[in-house]
Amino acid sequence: MADTQAPTISSANPSANPSVNRRGPVTGTAATAKKRKKFFLLDLYGTAVGKKYVMAITGIAMMGFVLSHMIGNLKMYLGEEDINHYAEFLTRLGYPLAPENVVLWIMRAGLIGALLLHLHAAYSLTVMNRQARSVKYQSARDYQIANFASRSMRLTGITVLLFLVWHLLDFTFGVTNTLGDGDFDKHQVYDNVVRSFERVPVSAFYILANLALGVHLYHGAWSIFQSLGWNSPRFNQWRRMFATAFAAIVVVGNVSFPVAVLAGIVG
Ligand code: HEM
Repeated sequence: MADTQAPTISSANPSANPSVNRRGPVTGTAATAKKRKKFFLLDLYGTAVGKKYVMAITGIAMMGFVLSHMIGNLKMYLGEEDINHYAEFLTRLGYPLAPENVVLWIMRAGLIGALLLHLHAAYSLTVMNRQARSVKYQSARDYQIANFASRSMRLTGITVLLFLVWHLLDFTFGVTNTLGDGDFDKHQVYDNVVRSFERVPVSAFYILANLALGVHLYHGAWSIFQSLGWNSPRFNQWRRMFATAFAAIVVVGNVSFPVAVLAGIVG
């Protein structure tokens, strides 16, 4: 994108930057220099490195969400009143400084934006990789590892997305969570969760989807360091431990809910 535009002033002393000189005489004005700067992030996003940064940063935001969502849901074990009160508390975040629901909606918007950017960056990186790699990897082993990782990320990512659609229909919109007479009340979180997980196929789906989430989180948490350029072999052991611990904590916590309902511990 940048190559098709007129060269612009990028520093007070252009000769200090050899790449400016290679591009020919400086013809820009202060106004165009300002305009070019505005698109710096878009320019960066046009590169594979920029897309990897976006994947990593949006991934970190969503990791923060899944971990805090799981921790919040542990209130199921404290009883009906605690979890329902917690759900109500979320709607009043920032109140009375901000009106009810506003902070929650800002967080939701951030999460939706992170998800969309994550999906777009993943898709366009795949397209870029396919276009760039007309020749196969020299080593069959490297090829298999890279292929397995990207395939498993796609498969587990799509599984988590499908899960999310069901999950929202189940607990937020109540489409799949009524007694059949349209009596869904999203504020009765405890009842909704118990009613949902009492259905064995639904619990089985939750468990499977959360295992897929675990694989996705493990590989994602491992890759973040690579994407952000912190990939010294000295840290590999710590990276592996962090990725394993993070994925395990989220999966064990999430899987415990359907298991607890089916076992009669919660209900
Ligand atoms: C078994 C584990 C889980 C349980 C028991 C659970 C429970 C719930 C409940 C009860 C709600 C509705 C809260 C409300 O409206 O007040 C909810 C919303 C939500 N859940 Fe989960 N959840 C689980 C796992 C997950 C996972 C793994 C993800 C993401 C991959 C996720 C993403 C969401 C999202 C995005 C919302 C909507 C939040 C909002 O409307 O602000 N949940 N969950």
